[in-house]
Amino acid sequence: MNEQALSVREAITSRRSVKNFNGQPVDLENIVSVLEDARWAPTHGLRNPWRFVVAANQEYVKFQDVLKEYGVPKWKELSEEELEKQMKKFRAPGAVVFVVVKEDVRQKERLEDYAAASALIQNAMLLAWDQGIGTCWKTPPFIDNPKFREELGVKTGERIMSMLQFGYYDDIPKGRVRTPLEDIVTFYGMDDEQEEE
Ligand SMILES: Cc1cc2nc3c(=O)[nH]c(=O)nc-3n(C[C@H](O)[C@H](O)[C@H](O)COP(=O)(O)O)c2cc1C
Repeated sequence: MNEQALSVREAITSRRSVKNFNGQPVDLENIVSVLEDARWAPTHGLRNPWRFVVAANQEYVKFQDVLKEYGVPKWKELSEEELEKQMKKFRAPGAVVFVVVKEDVRQKERLEDYAAASALIQNAMLLAWDQGIGTCWKTPPFIDNPKFREELGVKTGERIMSMLQFGYYDDIPKGRVRTPLEDIVTFYGMDDEQEEE
């Protein structure tokens, strides 16, 4: 297990989605340790509704051909230079994890399973951040492309919830503004009193 460097609060408030990775590969063992721990996300009925498709090291380099096919529109018509420019977004991360969730036929269970998998993804992002590895949860349209799904071995009744990119970075992105708490919280039973004052 890795030494923990950040408190939970520090990890949550300092984590940023990294969109500019520096191209350094991320070792498979780092990804495995993150996923091992991330699995402790809450899951109703212990349904463990998730599985992962991981591409790291040389496998990630090979996988970039698949990303080119599905993630770069009309890549066959582009010049070498233009294609390389487009491929930067896929070459810069060091590894990728596709989080695949079972789609329960029951609506409540399906929503709960999505919620549980979201908690798992946040766990993974925080654990990676603690190791100095950046992540970005991405949902490009091609994750729902039947041919891309087939390429990853995703079956009927499963959904790719996230293309979770992992990678090292040179600069920490600036924090993005969140809605102030006072705009989104109601303290039950206290609002009427304040309005009367
Ligand atoms: C469900 C979900 C889907 C996302 N999809 C994308 C995406 O497709 N592309 C992208 O650049 N960022 C994506 N993001 C990342 C958000 O843009 C990012 O979390 C947001 O800008 C806040 O930045 P922060 O995470 O650094 O605080 C996604 C985040 C979530 C939760």
